[in-house]
Formats: sequence, structure tokens, C-alpha cells
Amino acid sequence: MTPTAFDAFADIYDNDFTHTPLGQMLRARVWAHLADHFQAGQHILELTCGTGEDARWLGQRGVFVTATDGSAEMVQVAQAKMAQAGLTEWVTVQPLTLQDIKPTRFAPPQFDGAFSNFGGLNTIGDWRPLGQTLAQLIKPNGTLILVPMGPLCPWEVAWYGLHGQFKLALRRWQQPAAAHIGAATIPIWYPSARRLQQDLVPYFRHVSTHSLGLWLPPSYLGHLVTRWPKLFVRLNQFERRTAAYTASWGDHYVSIFVRSK
Ligand SMILES: C[S@@+](CC[C@H](N)C(=O)[O-])C[C@H]1O[C@@H](n2cnc3c(N)ncnc32)[C@H](O)[C@@H]1O
Repeated sequence: MTPTAFDAFADIYDNDFTHTPLGQMLRARVWAHLADHFQAGQHILELTCGTGEDARWLGQRGVFVTATDGSAEMVQVAQAKMAQAGLTEWVTVQPLTLQDIKPTRFAPPQFDGAFSNFGGLNTIGDWRPLGQTLAQLIKPNGTLILVPMGPLCPWEVAWYGLHGQFKLALRRWQQPAAAHIGAATIPIWYPSARRLQQDLVPYFRHVSTHSLGLWLPPSYLGHLVTRWPKLFVRLNQFERRTAAYTASWGDHYVSIFVRSK
């Protein structure tokens, strides 16, 4: 299964991404959306939770989270994080792939909302079965927040293009592209916002889409943000103000849906 490729990164993921200036900027932008839609006392399903950084943040705000991930090592790191934060009453973490998410796996069966952050959704190429399953798991009017990597990343095209690595510059237009995750090579799909919307209709109504990482670079260029923090703080502010206009352009995008009645 694809997610086992992520096992090797479980112990280093937070240092390499979460705690970096770029990681903190990007995650704070996603948290602003989570805060707008998920309230204390609600029960939220998280897909592809990784090391549980978002689940912890929600749990600290009184939101109950059932967090899932397909990588056993990521799940272990997330479980340890919740225990250390004293959040095990609010957050449970389960090993579960996107492909294995089924309504019968959960009690109670219905959630107030669901989300997946930072590219976990890119390891599948058809989002219709997931949409159908989530439709049974999320209450009417519940919010679904998805943060996939998108097909239009100007930073990536420019960076690899300038370095003469044209195959990498254009990799997002192959479906699937081959991604090297440590020693493993796995298929990755880059859905357009339109494709995601098509796959989620008729169960979910699209509300809005916001760029994430259009003026900010992809995570593998995070060292640029560390080197020139003031410049990228300004670019982040600009990107935040304009993200609704640039929609799905960027390394990632945030698409928000509501479960139709
Ligand atoms: C880039 S990490 C993002 C982790 C976390 N959402 C975050 O915001 O830091 C991608 C995560 O998706 C998980 N993942 C990838 N494909 C998956 C699949 N098919 N089913 C379940 N988890 C998957 C990986 O194990 C990894 O933890």
C-alpha cells in the first residue's frame, strides 16, 4: 500500500516541515479555515493525519477528532503526541488508509465535518468512492475541507525549468506522476479543483477554493523562506489576501465543501 512509503518520514516530518518557518506559515493558513468551520464540541474526521499536528490543534480547542492515516509509523507518532499533550479524550488516532475508510468502521457513524491536509489525497486518482463514503459519514450541512497538491505550481515550473530539469518542471501534468518518497516510488495524481468538485458532486456543494503556496514556495524550497523571512512574511500576507481570487493555483489549494442535504 502506498502510505507505507511514508513510514520512513514519521520521525523526521515535524522537524523537516512542521516546525520550519514555511511549514508554520502554511499550516496557520489552513488553521484559519479549520477555525472558521469546526467548533468546540463537534466531532471531526481527519483523513491522512500524518503526525497529528492539526488534530492536536483542534483537540486543544475542544474539538473531538477521529484522526486516521495509512502509515503505521505516522499513526504512532500522532498517538504519542496526543498522549503527551493530554488529549487522548479528545483525539483518537487510527491506522486506516483512504481506500479502507468505510462507514462501518466508526461509532458514532456521523461526523460534523471532515478534512485532509497537505497532499494525503494525492495518492488516489479517483475521488468519487471517497466522496460517496464521506457522504455517509458527514451530517447534512457538515463541512469538508480538502488540501491537495494542485496541477498548477508556478514556483515548481520556474525552479526546475531554470535548473534545466524539464521533466520535473512539468511532472504535475502527468497523471499519475512518479514521486520518490524515500526509497519508494509511488504514483501521485494532481487533481484540479474542477476535477475534485466533479468527483464530489452530488454529495457535496462547493463553497470556495483558496490558493496555498502560490507566492510561497513548495516545501522542498523551505530553506529560501528561512533565509529571507521578511520577504516571505510579506508574500504570505499578500497571498492570504488574494488566495480566493487565485483559487487553485499554487503548490496546494484549500477547497471547502458542504454536505448537501
Ligand atoms: C504530506 S503528509 C501530510 C500529513 C498531515 N496531513 C499534515 O498536515 O502534516 C501525507 C500523509 O498522507 C498519508 N497518506 C498518503 N496516502 C494515503 C492513503 N492512501 N491512505 C491513508 N493515508 C495516506 C501519509 O501516510 C502521510 O502521513
